[in-house]
Amino acid sequence: MRGGKAVEELATPDPATTEADKPDRLPVLIVDDDPAMRAGLRQWMRLAGYEPVEAVDAEAALQRLSPGFPGCVVSDVLLPGASGMDLLRTVKGIDPELPVVLLTGHGDVPMAVEAMRGGAADFIEKPFDPDVLAAVVARALDHRRLVLENRALTRRLESRDGLEARLIGDSAAMRRVREEIAHFAATDASVLVIGETGTGKEVVARALHELSGRAGGPFVAVNCAALPDSMVEAELFGHEAGAFTSADKARAGRIEQADGGVLFLDELTSMPLALQPKLLRALQEREVDRLGGKAPVPVDLRMVSAANMEPRQAVEDNLLRQDLLFRLNAIEIRIPPLRARGGDVRQLFDSFANRFSAEYRMEVPALSADDAAFLAGYDWPGNVRELRNAAERYVLGGAMGSPCVRALVTGGRTETAPAAAPGGRLKDLLESYERQVIADALRRHEGRVADAIEELDLPRRTFNEKMARLGLSRSG
Ligand SMILES: Nc1ncnc2c1ncn2[C@@H]1O[C@H](COP(=O)(O)OP(=O)(O)OP(=O)(O)O)[C@@H](O)[C@H]1O
Ligand SMILES: [Mg+2]
Repeated sequence: MRGGKAVEELATPDPATTEADKPDRLPVLIVDDDPAMRAGLRQWMRLAGYEPVEAVDAEAALQRLSPGFPGCVVSDVLLPGASGMDLLRTVKGIDPELPVVLLTGHGDVPMAVEAMRGGAADFIEKPFDPDVLAAVVARALDHRRLVLENRALTRRLESRDGLEARLIGDSAAMRRVREEIAHFAATDASVLVIGETGTGKEVVARALHELSGRAGGPFVAVNCAALPDSMVEAELFGHEAGAFTSADKARAGRIEQADGGVLFLDELTSMPLALQPKLLRALQEREVDRLGGKAPVPVDLRMVSAANMEPRQAVEDNLLRQDLLFRLNAIEIRIPPLRARGGDVRQLFDSFANRFSAEYRMEVPALSADDAAFLAGYDWPGNVRELRNAAERYVLGGAMGSPCVRALVTGGRTETAPAAAPGGRLKDLLESYERQVIADALRRHEGRVADAIEELDLPRRTFNEKMARLGLSRSG
């Protein structure tokens, strides 16, 4: 019966023309050891608008299958080695909802019954009418699509719960940020996360990675501001041995290391301008040229970048090339500063305090009315990071009496010039003065970084580093 009448009746369409107009064809895994039968099934599946994938026996078939396989299986019952029934059982073990259609011999009722009991989506007696097969496969694939959609939905809902624990805050702004992450994680589009220092940009970047299909791949972070200009190129692009004096061994750059995963470009606006065209080229061509390398290395990665200033302003200030920005900001996720997030402050403080209380095995001291008001009214220039530190010191301070959040936060810092500062560690006093000078310069220039840099006569990188270290934002 094998390779019988139905196969000879098959038309032989030109597969190239039918394939071209349907890019998203669902796969149908055809399992049959008879080449003529496979050829027939292949043609029919193509005609019906599916993507045939072939295997000669159960073992080869299993190599093609995984729990999320987006299509269905059409298998003969009689196979060399493990039978179609065995295959059905194994497939059900991989994914109980993966549809398997079995082709049984004509009149083999016991086999058909066994197939249906074993969880086959359907069985078809040979020889069969190709239209019947197409209809059965269409039904199986329809069912499959629904199952997979449902699973994706469940996964999204679950990951939302996980996100709420990592990105705390019930403000509308934080809810939106979480929704954006859940929504865009699955795509491969480049994301630019914008927010002041300490607002959680890296948390967002890591969440995007973990909720994406690239979660199994690497998450490679590069902080442009933390590297001396002269090292950025070798760090990003890698080098061959002998490419420069200190390059004794070949080394893959960060871009290459991110292959299959996510490259997180932190402090994007500190990326040396001279290197930006090279980075853009690498991203466009999807390949990197190591320093001293002969041939480009192909890479497959998703870009997530972070900026603590308005990227369009950075373009105007000549810190960032517009073409690179356009390559990196297909999606922009903006995290508002903590002072604009209302109740989030108290929620975050309580959550951090509880966390540190568990970590240090210390009680959380009761919060005074003055401290509660301070939490809500303070402008948190260092945002969540500063709040987190305050909560930690608050819990630790409980061991020495009743700590005061206001004093803990403003203690090492003065509102006026250091001449009026009380005694303290020299380092703290100097930092306080530095913070004041830079904040004043920014205020005088209405937040225009380039002008402040010029007035203070600082290298751009040093300036950015200081901003980050001192917890300053462009607004001072
Ligand atoms: N919504 C949040 N919920 C819980 N923790 C948060 C939240 N936002 C930030 N954090 C915590 O605050 C700290 C600072 O976050 P993160 O390092 O992501 O900030 P950032 O925006 O990258 O800062 P910078 O610009 O200085 O690099 C981290 O310890 C992070 O876990
Ligand atoms: Mg960061």
